[in-house]
Amino acid sequence: ETLGVIGFPFSKGQPRNGTEHGPNVLREAGIITSLQSLGVNVIDHGDIEIEVVLRDEPMKNVRNPRTVAAANKKLSDAVAKLVKMNQSVLALGGDHCMAIGSIHGHAQVEPNLVVVWVDAHADVNTPLTSVSGNIHGMPLSFLLKELEEFVPKVPGFEWCKPCLSVRDLVYIGLRDVDPAERLIIEKFGIHAYSMQEVDKYGIKEVVERALNQVDPSGVRPIHVSFDVDAMDPTLTPATGTPVSGGLSLRESFYLAEEISNTGRLSVLDIAEVNPLLSTEDKRKLTVINTTDVSTKFYGYRRQGNAPRDYELP
Ligand code: ARG
Ligand code: MN
Ligand code: MN
Ligand code: MN
Repeated sequence: ETLGVIGFPFSKGQPRNGTEHGPNVLREAGIITSLQSLGVNVIDHGDIEIEVVLRDEPMKNVRNPRTVAAANKKLSDAVAKLVKMNQSVLALGGDHCMAIGSIHGHAQVEPNLVVVWVDAHADVNTPLTSVSGNIHGMPLSFLLKELEEFVPKVPGFEWCKPCLSVRDLVYIGLRDVDPAERLIIEKFGIHAYSMQEVDKYGIKEVVERALNQVDPSGVRPIHVSFDVDAMDPTLTPATGTPVSGGLSLRESFYLAEEISNTGRLSVLDIAEVNPLLSTEDKRKLTVINTTDVSTKFYGYRRQGNAPRDYELP
């Protein structure tokens, strides 16, 4: 089993500079070496080269449409290529618009995938419902088949055909959902566990129900799109849209461990780390907690991991 790492140094899906440094601060924190010391065969494929698109006028209030589309097209191709080579993929963002390219690319090779979206936000605004105009709040609207008729043509996105069905998506961690997004969740019956349900049922029950709902027979490839703002801002303060009352470190670890235990994690996105938004201490905390959760997705167990192929001397 080989894990391919791709960096997506990008911030144009939202207004704040800094998420383009996400891949490198995570590498510097040792995300690759931690995975390697677990015995995972990791290949770092480096960063996607981001093209500058000149004259990228907004489409209605949607900002940087061509720039976001071009970068995500490249990410889609890179993810598809690695999945085709049978590699698992860890995609290091970058703002959460990265899910457009990452899920699209994954779906080109594994059309049967399911998506677990771990986030404070639903990121399912359409270009017509978004108040902010930031594409990181819209990625799912470009991917969901059932929303196709509600999404206008956005310049640059001609390549992006919807590839995911509403029933193959489940949310965990929601606590800042726009009214139009809630309407979409209810209209299409999208499986969603907000922090209210995490409080009510506990993370164990939530993860179990979530996985069971999207894939009762437990055979399909899993795409996890993990926005670090799903975690409480005391844990991951260096992010653009923090919302209080988030997942604890232990809830995050548990979720990652259970996904790992399925043996079916195929692609993991890590989005919205922004090292420029806080103090040195808070940046370090964010990066350490993000790295620690990431390693749990790949088999780092709190109960300990015995070395592979090693006899007691
Ligand atoms: N719902 C808001 C918007 O559409 C916030 C989205 C935040 N998304 C994120 N990936 N952090 O602008
Ligand atoms: Mn978010
Ligand atoms: Mn269902
Ligand atoms: Mn998000």
